[in-house]
Amino acid sequence: MNKLIIVVLLGLASAQLQSVQTLNVTQYLGNWYEVASSPWVHLTFEKDAYCTRATYGVQSDGNLSVLNMERYGSPSGEIKEITGYAYIPNPEQPGQLKVHLDGAPFEYADYWIVQLGPVKNEQYQWAIVSEPSKFFMWVLARDPVEYNLLYKTQVQNTVTNTLQFDGRFNQYVARPWTGCVPYSDSQ
Ligand SMILES: *[C@@H]1O[C@H](CO)[C@@H](O)[C@H](O)[C@H]1NC(C)=O
Ligand SMILES: *[C@@H]1O[C@H](CO)[C@@H](O)[C@H](O)[C@H]1NC(C)=O
Repeated sequence: MNKLIIVVLLGLASAQLQSVQTLNVTQYLGNWYEVASSPWVHLTFEKDAYCTRATYGVQSDGNLSVLNMERYGSPSGEIKEITGYAYIPNPEQPGQLKVHLDGAPFEYADYWIVQLGPVKNEQYQWAIVSEPSKFFMWVLARDPVEYNLLYKTQVQNTVTNTLQFDGRFNQYVARPWTGCVPYSDSQ
């Protein structure tokens, strides 16, 4: 086979990831609950994490504030949190954010918003988040119970079949919220 054919076949095999073309940042703010993620996530920075929640706000410089909370070891374990910030380097690619987390072994990580659910109460209801290599993948939702009832089947199918997160370490794994002891500021 010549090189061109091999490149084309590789391209087909690993469906290139696209990020959203429009993003209303205001509707992306607030609390997000991790309802699914890839094994890579839990083998690395969310090792032994349960009940992982992200909260996004706006800083005075216009960047987004990031607060990640988790329970360590079990759904009632000790609370661990990490803060940071995120921004959109290129307004023409509003779904391609860079995230900095305080104390993390990287300066900036890619954070791509790949697909967004419907807007309700002025908030997107779910989001598929990943990065260009497709190792790390999260599904975030506003309400884990409602997500399972209304959106899970469709989102899992999109992640697995359309976006082809179907490898052993990047497949969709549900992250249950049953038994999670609520954070004190939870609604
Ligand atoms: C956000 O953070 C980046 C990286 O520190 C910085 O270059 C930028 O000026 C900040 N503010 C905005 C609005 O992007
Ligand atoms: C973004 O969302 C907010 C909250 O729903 C809304 O008030 C605003 O008009 C939206 N902005 C755009 C440009 O659609």
